[in-house]
Amino acid sequence: MSQSIRADFPILDRQAHGEPLVYLDSAATTQKPQAVIDAVSGYYETMNANVHRAAHALADEATQAFEAAREKVRAFINAPTREQVIFTRGTTESINLVANALSQRLSPGDEILITRLEHHSNIVPWQMLAQRSGATLVACDITDNGDIDLEDFARRLNDKTRVVAINHVSNALGTVNPVETLIGQAHAVGAVVLIDGAQASAHLPLDMVSLDCDFYAFSSHKMFGPTGIGVLYGKRDLLEALPPWQGGGEMIEHVTMEHTTYNVLPYKFEAGTPNISGAVGLGAAVDYLTSIPQADLVAQEDRLVQLAVSELKQMPGVRLVGEPERRLSVISFLVDGAHPNDIGTLMDRQGIAVRTGHHCTMPLMERLGTPGTVRASFSLYNSQDDVDRFVAGIRKAQSFV
Ligand code: ALA
Repeated sequence: MSQSIRADFPILDRQAHGEPLVYLDSAATTQKPQAVIDAVSGYYETMNANVHRAAHALADEATQAFEAAREKVRAFINAPTREQVIFTRGTTESINLVANALSQRLSPGDEILITRLEHHSNIVPWQMLAQRSGATLVACDITDNGDIDLEDFARRLNDKTRVVAINHVSNALGTVNPVETLIGQAHAVGAVVLIDGAQASAHLPLDMVSLDCDFYAFSSHKMFGPTGIGVLYGKRDLLEALPPWQGGGEMIEHVTMEHTTYNVLPYKFEAGTPNISGAVGLGAAVDYLTSIPQADLVAQEDRLVQLAVSELKQMPGVRLVGEPERRLSVISFLVDGAHPNDIGTLMDRQGIAVRTGHHCTMPLMERLGTPGTVRASFSLYNSQDDVDRFVAGIRKAQSFV
């Protein structure tokens, strides 16, 4: 299975430092299949024009391709309507959009509840919202294993909680959070819920209707699509009611010097020329991802991750950071006596790409008592051979420290 998938990703044939590449940094960004590369270059070769504006053939084709990509995303996440799929620059911009649009709805005394497990992109926009509105940012704790502390979450949730923002899957530890349960609890106190799905969209089936969150944010580049484009899904009544956050371009209906009326959804939230080629590439990525049976995808990734985890557990001098109840794709670890960056460099020299550092989760690292970790993150194109090279690479790195 993974051999044929691997052949779809031309970059995986290259070497790094004279060694065959082992790419274990897919949580940072995934590699792109040929189909996505072709879709982006094909767009520029055959139909490049601005969308929704001009009355000519190219503009018409570009608009159709752009809107077809929106429909593919809608179907992929089972959103009820295409108007609820807003193109943004990525997860970070999607979260900032919501945090800005909610500004007028919060006031002193209100609370925004997040967790210690969040990426900075799901912390800082809420801190900024708290500063603007006078609301209080509250963070629920995690267990030492790296799961959300569900009792602490329930304790901190109350009738002052107006917004709850949680990741679906932790980028630093791979924890799969019980978002269905947390969304239900948050709704019971009347809070609006945003799920950061950056690390979930390439791995888990997404169904906005059954998930019932109010907002869901994800990035194209972490699910085999281009960088610079992502999605905000929202419940329709909320999106209708919220004000736009950026002005200009596609988001207007009518402008006078005194006043502007705004366009309908989704355009109200899409100011300026969008990332058209990015959307086309994301559409191709969705086609690619949906062409692979979900069960095969999950089974292959899980098998490799579990294998790597059990190997690491047996290695003297290696310590896993986070042992969540349910893990997806990501393994964080430390090597005794070595700084994570040094291990990363020693692995890189062997052609093995991992990420080191705080992984944009400094409050989580503080909670875990480490400034950073070494992180290996797997995707559908990884193989047994990658796991073997990864384990051998750590052994070799250990021999240098
Ligand atoms: N959020 C990305 C990561 O975890 C960049 O690596």
